[in-house]
Amino acid sequence: MTSQVNIIAVGGGKGGIGKSVVCTNLAIGIALSGQKVVLMDTDFGASNLHAMLAINNPVHGFQDLFNENSPNTQSLLIDTGISNLKFVSGAGDNPGSANIDTDKVNKVISFIKNLQADTILLDLGPGTNFNVIDFFNISTQNVVLTTPEITSVMKTFSFIRSVLFRRISLAFQGNPEIQKLVDHSNPGNANIETYTTDLLREQFKKDFPDHLEQLNTIVKGFTPGLVVNRVRSKKDLLTGDNLLKLVKKFLGVKATYLGYIIESDRVRDSVDEMVPFLIKDPQSKPSENLQQIISSLTNADLEFVKRDGKIFVSKQVRLSSGWEV
Ligand SMILES: Nc1ncnc2c1ncn2[C@@H]1O[C@H](COP(=O)(O)OP(=O)(O)OP(=O)(O)O)[C@@H](O)[C@H]1O
Ligand SMILES: [Mg+2]
Repeated sequence: MTSQVNIIAVGGGKGGIGKSVVCTNLAIGIALSGQKVVLMDTDFGASNLHAMLAINNPVHGFQDLFNENSPNTQSLLIDTGISNLKFVSGAGDNPGSANIDTDKVNKVISFIKNLQADTILLDLGPGTNFNVIDFFNISTQNVVLTTPEITSVMKTFSFIRSVLFRRISLAFQGNPEIQKLVDHSNPGNANIETYTTDLLREQFKKDFPDHLEQLNTIVKGFTPGLVVNRVRSKKDLLTGDNLLKLVKKFLGVKATYLGYIIESDRVRDSVDEMVPFLIKDPQSKPSENLQQIISSLTNADLEFVKRDGKIFVSKQVRLSSGWEV
């Protein structure tokens, strides 16, 4: 038996909102704090995460898992040059690799769950197809990202709803009538008020009253953490509160606010230069923002300082109430 590894997935429907850049720097920060971390690119077919770590054309990746002669799974773990941090590439030669089937998804999921690590970070692709959602749903800490733009907020709302409805649908696999009801009520990007958890609850009350409690338990058990990226003003910060209110009101989901990252040339330049912004300058504003988010995720206050080319990490573990002196 392996002990349960912490899996953090970073998702949020829209493309280009900063999922990969945030996921990479989160992985680095958690690794620097002393945990053994594996960062995974699950954006099959369009994987580019290796570039953010200045790794050129990885030889091994998830595609190896699908080869006839079973690979040495250790060879998938690529060195990053950052202590405690390994990387698994989603790259492959197969042009159709974006559409991997359920069998393959299950192979990857079983590989992830059996890894020897403290924390695994999954960088997800854009969109809300089942491949993306199913990877998101194996995580133990769900992080959803949005930017302040309304198009991104709406896509992240839809992403959260798709995740929730997929959980409900899978939980009622033995009951095709419920599955049909849930699957058909998932309207993608349509009007947020069209299908709400309350509406679903009403239908359950009418047609499946014995399962209402299970439905409520699933909704209650989904508590994603929200990060707002590319914040430029105080007004932008309200995006987070608004999205939290929206998902509570229409989905009954209690999301928490993990923090935000400002819009900064340092982030953009770090991608161009292939040097993660946390490494380049751990005391820059976006790095400080990131430290807040890691602190919320790990329940420890972290501070990174760079001196003479070395990064020093200080860590204060938060005591729960009752233990404070
Ligand atoms: N806080 C920020 N400040 C400035 N630029 C940013 C910030 N966050 C992201 N960017 C820019 O946005 C670009 C896209 O980011 P990234 O590749 O992480 O998005 P993504 O959500 O992973 O996209 P995809 O859905 O295609 O995988 C980055 O290359 C960077 O230039
Ligand atoms: Mg990406």
